[in-house]
Amino acid sequence: MGYGYTFIKSQLFTQIPYPQSSFSGQTVIVTGSNTGLGLEAARHIVRLDATKVILAVRTVSKGQAAAANIIESLNVPSSRVEVWQLDLSSHESVIAFGKRVQSLDRLDAVIQNAGILTYEWNIVEGEESHIAINVVSPILFGLLVLPKLRETAKATGQSGRLAFVGSDLHYIAKFKEAGVSGSMFDALRQKEIADMGDRYKVSKLLLLYAVRELAARNPLSSSSNVIIDYLTPGACKSDIFRDDLSYVQRLGIGIGTALMARTTEVGSRTLVHGVSSDVGEEAHGAFLMDCRVFPNGTNVDSERGQSLQKLWTQELFERLELIEPGCTTA
Ligand SMILES: NC(=O)c1ccc[n+]([C@@H]2O[C@H](COP(=O)([O-])OP(=O)(O)OC[C@H]3O[C@@H](n4cnc5c(N)ncnc54)[C@H](OP(=O)(O)O)[C@@H]3O)[C@@H](O)[C@H]2O)c1
Repeated sequence: MGYGYTFIKSQLFTQIPYPQSSFSGQTVIVTGSNTGLGLEAARHIVRLDATKVILAVRTVSKGQAAAANIIESLNVPSSRVEVWQLDLSSHESVIAFGKRVQSLDRLDAVIQNAGILTYEWNIVEGEESHIAINVVSPILFGLLVLPKLRETAKATGQSGRLAFVGSDLHYIAKFKEAGVSGSMFDALRQKEIADMGDRYKVSKLLLLYAVRELAARNPLSSSSNVIIDYLTPGACKSDIFRDDLSYVQRLGIGIGTALMARTTEVGSRTLVHGVSSDVGEEAHGAFLMDCRVFPNGTNVDSERGQSLQKLWTQELFERLELIEPGCTTA
């Protein structure tokens, strides 16, 4: 079946289960949780009895407003929600966040949700912005929280969970830039050949390659009992389209969204599922859609996909070692 069929079936004919599994006693981090899917996922996890939910946000005042909103809506003590600064467009900020995480008594689950979608060309930390914010920083962040997740899993005897929010659009990434020989980072940094209509999809495909590699490098064992997964929330009504779009583009997106998209609350259920006690070992290194393991698609499973994953992850992990020495082996 093609992507169109899968998409329509998911959006219009699939019920996303309301999260019920308890997070009692747990500490959970959700990035990009001042708004959209991250905010609603954090709200669910507080409702499900987590002791502490950390909103990891780039603007602390926005995070504080989100925390107040969660606390008021659920009528819970303010100590249950903390706000920590995290800017994925700065390696320094991600590294500082990773160090701060070491001060926690425990860390049971993390949702790396923050991300961008833009048609504009921007450079962040030397890379095109989707590559920096949707791929390099999320994986750096994942590597830096992994030791604390492992430590907690060992102490509690329960699996830790680390979920990355991707997109099912990885299925239809064209990724023409991959045809350029040499370094993939170099190819993705060339403005002249960039297809900005495809770049978000490419970034989510590269994120999936990286999550699969991260999971393969950290197989489930008694010393590393952390389930690492990649999930899609499906198409949801949020503020993800922040570009200055034309009236016609806005109308098109508005109509499409009105007809097909989930509310952020419904979409957020998939984020909660990705780090709940419902995810089993089969989710490790897998793509989750509609709260279950889904086929990766030809962009991953084909010979070309396998070869691109190998090339990309080799380059990416070498780069991460340069950014924060020791992070890929900690
Ligand atoms: N909405 C959809 O249809 C859809 C579909 C598939 C996947 N997704 C994925 O779901 C995730 C959440 O998207 P959303 O729809 O909830 O979008 P959203 O409402 O735009 O939320 C994105 C969040 O990411 C944060 N963020 C952006 N750049 C950041 C940076 N450099 N450092 C730290 N935080 C940053 C934003 O913070 P600010 O508010 O400060 O900008 C915001 O909190 C994204 O990864 C997106 O790719 C969304």
